[in-house]
Amino acid sequence: MTTPQISMDSVVVGRSARMRAVFEFLRVIGNSDSTVLVTGESGTGKEVTATLIHQNSRRRHHPFVAVSCALFSETLIESELFGHERGAFTGAIKDRLGRFELAEGGTIFLDDIDDVPLSMQVKLLRVLQNRTVERLGGTRTVPVNVRVIAGSKRDLKQLVAEGKFREDLYYRLNVLPLTLPPLRERREDVPVLMDHFLSRYFKRRNEDIPAISDAVRQAFLRYSWPGNVRELENACERIAQTCSCGTVRIGCMSASILFRAGSQPVDVAQAMTPATDTTAPISLDDRLREVEANLIGWALKVSGGNKSRAAELLQIKRSTLGDRINRCGLGALDKPETPSAVAVHTA
Ligand SMILES: Nc1ncnc2c1ncn2[C@@H]1O[C@H](COP(=O)(O)OP(=O)(O)OP(=O)(O)O)[C@@H](O)[C@H]1O
Ligand SMILES: [Mg+2]
Repeated sequence: MTTPQISMDSVVVGRSARMRAVFEFLRVIGNSDSTVLVTGESGTGKEVTATLIHQNSRRRHHPFVAVSCALFSETLIESELFGHERGAFTGAIKDRLGRFELAEGGTIFLDDIDDVPLSMQVKLLRVLQNRTVERLGGTRTVPVNVRVIAGSKRDLKQLVAEGKFREDLYYRLNVLPLTLPPLRERREDVPVLMDHFLSRYFKRRNEDIPAISDAVRQAFLRYSWPGNVRELENACERIAQTCSCGTVRIGCMSASILFRAGSQPVDVAQAMTPATDTTAPISLDDRLREVEANLIGWALKVSGGNKSRAAELLQIKRSTLGDRINRCGLGALDKPETPSAVAVHTA
């Protein structure tokens, strides 16, 4: 078994009031050894926050072991967490340490704790209470010195009310509760996250971070980011991989984001007006291309990806629309990652 390593990228950025409260919480819990329960939608940063908690603790020189409880079947999770001894079950050909023992002296991050079956919850409770594990098929009780951080996508209290999560385990985990808000509730963080990830991914390509057009910034702000920070990070990585034109323009963005960001055609007059610096030169061609890409994105969205209908809406020929899509870079960039994106490809 490989012990997951802390990524060198475990940086948490944000400037919204909600994230500042998170940073303050992290500062206050500093050297505490108590169990933390991190709750947040997928992609809000539960794991990266857990690594940060570990790095800021006195356990930082010991392992950080992350395990997603959702990845294992009911029978496998026990051996994964607590280990097994040779012959414990068919296929157990040698002794194997569990994740708790691998995290000795350090921190274990039990992600997706809300997916742990009830039968396993009672065993976990025993480990948290006694600070000992018993390997599957073993007879010894092994003491473990491990700090626990649990991650959950769902509200555990609600699961307790529904009878899906043990109340006693909930109280054991919920000693230091931390909630990570979805990105749509902290839009002030979008620009800083965007700069952070674009800088990271352009640097990885040994390139300077290019200028970012206002239209791109606005599209990032308008989009609801259902996949939260992970989706925004992926969008930035994709831009860094595909944009080599010196300025990040609308045409460099994934069309699926563009379509959902703009449910209405852009206000052309507004788009043509420089939003901030009135003395900086403006490339008319770039601006026109941005407006064009935005209108095409709107038409494709409204038409559900049907290019003939989109062409009608824009009062151009379908073949012209195809040319314009390619010219804006929308066609080439729009990989089929969402149903709407697939529809665009096949219409
Ligand atoms: N505030 C932040 N600052 C910088 N990077 C972040 C932030 N939040 C999340 N990330 C990055 O976003 C990606 C997703 O974060 P992470 O894996 O921690 O989310 P998660 O809540 O554990 O998601 P899931 O529930 O799907 O497992 C990671 O690459 C992480 O480094
Ligand atoms: Mg996670």
